Amino acid sequence: MTASCVSCHVNRGRDFTPPVLRTKEGEPGPAYYLGGEKGTVFNATSKAFEQESPAITEAGLTNRFKAGEIIFEGNFVPVKRNRFGGLGPTYIKSSCLACHPGYGRGQRTGNFDRQYGNGYLAFVHNPDGTPVKGYTGMLQTKAVPPFVPYAKGVKIEWHDFVDQYGNKYPDGTPYNAGKPTEGTLTYPTADVIEPLLPLPADYRVSIESTIGIYGTGLLDAIRDEDIIAEYRRQQSMTGPVKGIPGKWIDEPDGTRRLGKFTWDCSRATLENGPGANALWNVTNVTRKNRPNIYMTPEWLEKQKELGIDVSGLEGPQEEELSMQQYEDFMVWHRGLAVPAARNLDKPDVRRGQELFNKLGCAGCHKPEWTTGEYKPLPGYANQTIRPYTDMLRHDMGEINRGRSRFWRTPPLWGRGLMHKTANHTDMFHDLRARDFEEAILWHFGESEFSREMFRHLSAEERGQLIQFLKAL
Ligand code: HEC
Ligand code: HEC
Ligand code: HEC
Repeated sequence: MTASCVSCHVNRGRDFTPPVLRTKEGEPGPAYYLGGEKGTVFNATSKAFEQESPAITEAGLTNRFKAGEIIFEGNFVPVKRNRFGGLGPTYIKSSCLACHPGYGRGQRTGNFDRQYGNGYLAFVHNPDGTPVKGYTGMLQTKAVPPFVPYAKGVKIEWHDFVDQYGNKYPDGTPYNAGKPTEGTLTYPTADVIEPLLPLPADYRVSIESTIGIYGTGLLDAIRDEDIIAEYRRQQSMTGPVKGIPGKWIDEPDGTRRLGKFTWDCSRATLENGPGANALWNVTNVTRKNRPNIYMTPEWLEKQKELGIDVSGLEGPQEEELSMQQYEDFMVWHRGLAVPAARNLDKPDVRRGQELFNKLGCAGCHKPEWTTGEYKPLPGYANQTIRPYTDMLRHDMGEINRGRSRFWRTPPLWGRGLMHKTANHTDMFHDLRARDFEEAILWHFGESEFSREMFRHLSAEERGQLIQFLKAL
C-alpha cells in the first residue's frame, strides 16, 4: 500500500494538526507535553520514569506517593508480620521492580531464572490461549519451602528468523547494517522445566514481558466511549487496520468497563488492574480485597499427595498488606508522570514525524487523546495526552503468535528513554525487537503494509523515522 492509499484506508478521520512546538516565549509547547499539562515532567535522566506528576504535587499527595513507591520497590519475604511479609506459598518474583527495572521494561534473556531485569511472565496454555487446567494464569516457578512450585523453571530458546527478502532492504542493505546484529532477526520460544502437574499433549508455553508503568494513570482516564469510537473508525475503512477492543469487564464497584491494560487488554481499570493484581498474584501477598491465596485446587491436592501440610491455605487469609499500604501504592501507581518529548524541533525529527503519519503508523499508534473525568486523581481530567496507542488489539501475523496473534498497540511515549532508564532497547511483547529498526521489521499481519513501506524508504528516511521515535 502506498502512502496515498494509507491516507484513506488507514488514516481516514485522524486529525494530524500538529500541536504547537514552541510557545511565544520560546518554551516547549504542547507537543512536548506527552502526558498533558498535569502528567508530564521534564526529566530525561535514568530516573525519568520514576517521577511524580504535577497532579500529585498539586493535590498535596507527595508523601503518599513516596510511601507507595516503597511498596513497589520493596522485596517481599516469607516471614509474616514483617513490613514486607507474606511472600508465598508460591510466587514468581519477590518485588515488582525486579520485572520493571527502572520502572520500565524488562530485558530480553535466555535465562528465566534471572531475578533482576527479567520481566517475563510465562503462560502454560492450550492452543486456544486458555490456561491449562491446574495451572495459574501466570506460571509460578518459585515456592517457600516446604511447598513445591508449579514447575522448576522455564526454558527459553532464541531462533533466527529470515524473511522472504533474505533480511535485506530493497536497496540491498542488510537489516541492522553496521551493528553487531547485522542481517539478523531473532525470536524466542519457551517450554516448562519439570512441570508439577500433568500437561495435555497439545500444550503451549508463551512468554510476555513488561510494558511500562508510567502514564498508566492517564490511560486509565481515557473514556471507554472514545476507545469504541476509535474502534468504529477503524472498522469503517476497507484497509487492513481493524483493531478490536478488550472485553467488557464487571468491576468490583459494579460498573462495566472496557478492557484496556496488558498486551491483551484484559484489565479495564487500575483499581482492578495489572498492578493491583500483581501485588497479589506475583508475590501471593494477601490483603483485604485479595484475601485468598493465588493457587489452583490441583496444586493444593498435589502438595497433599507429597505429604506437605497445607492446613490454613484454603479460604480467606490474615491481611499481609494493609489497605493503607495498598491505597498509598495506588496513589503512586496512578501518579507516575510521563517524561516530556525531546528534540521535536529538529528537522530530521520533524521529517520523521511526517513519515510516521505517511506510513500509517499513526493509524494504530494514535497520537492524541483527551482524557475524561478521573475521580481517583482529578488533576488528570481533560488532559490532552500523546501516548501513541489506540488501546486496541491487532492481528500481528502468525510469526508473532503467543497466546494469540492479537496484541494491544503499546504506547510509544517514553520509548526513546528506555536505554537510559533500563540500559537496553528491547521491545515487543516477548522482547524480540532489540531496537526501533527491529521493532518496525517485526510488524506483520494488519501492519505489514507499514513494514513494507518502511523497507522501501531510503536509508536517510528510515533514520529520520527512528529519530522521531527516539524523541518520544
Ligand atoms: C480518497 C480516498 C481513497 C484513496 C486515496 C484510496 N482509496 Fe481505496 N477506497 C476508498 C473508498 C471510499 C472505498 C470504498 C469503500 C467502501 O465502499 O466501503 C475504497 C475501496 C477500495 C478497495 C475495495 C475494497 C473492498 O473491500 O471492496 C480497494 C482494494 C482499495 N480501495 C484499494 C486502494 C489502494 C490500493 C489505494 C492506493 C493506490 C487506494 N485504495 C486509495 C477510498 C480511497
Ligand atoms: C514476573 C514479572 C513481573 C512482576 C514481578 C510484575 N510485573 Fe507488571 N507486568 C509484567 C508483564 C509481563 C506485563 C505485561 C502484561 C501482559 O502479559 O499482558 C506487566 C504489566 C504491568 C502493567 C500494565 C501496563 C499496561 O500498559 O498495560 C502494570 C501497570 C504493571 N505491570 C504493574 C506492576 C506492579 C505494580 C507490580 C508489583 C506489584 C508488577 N507489575 C510486578 C510482569 C511483571
Ligand atoms: C496495525 C496496527 C499497527 C501499525 C500500522 C503499526 N503498529 Fe507498531 N505496533 C502495533 C502493535 C500491536 C505492536 C505490539 C506488537 C507486539 O508486541 O507483538 C506494535 C509495536 C510497536 C513498537 C514496539 C513498542 C514496544 O513498546 O514494544 C514500535 C516501536 C512500533 N510499533 C512502531 C511503529 C511504527 C514506526 C509504525 C509504522 C512504520 C508502526 N508501529 C505501525 C501496531 C501497529
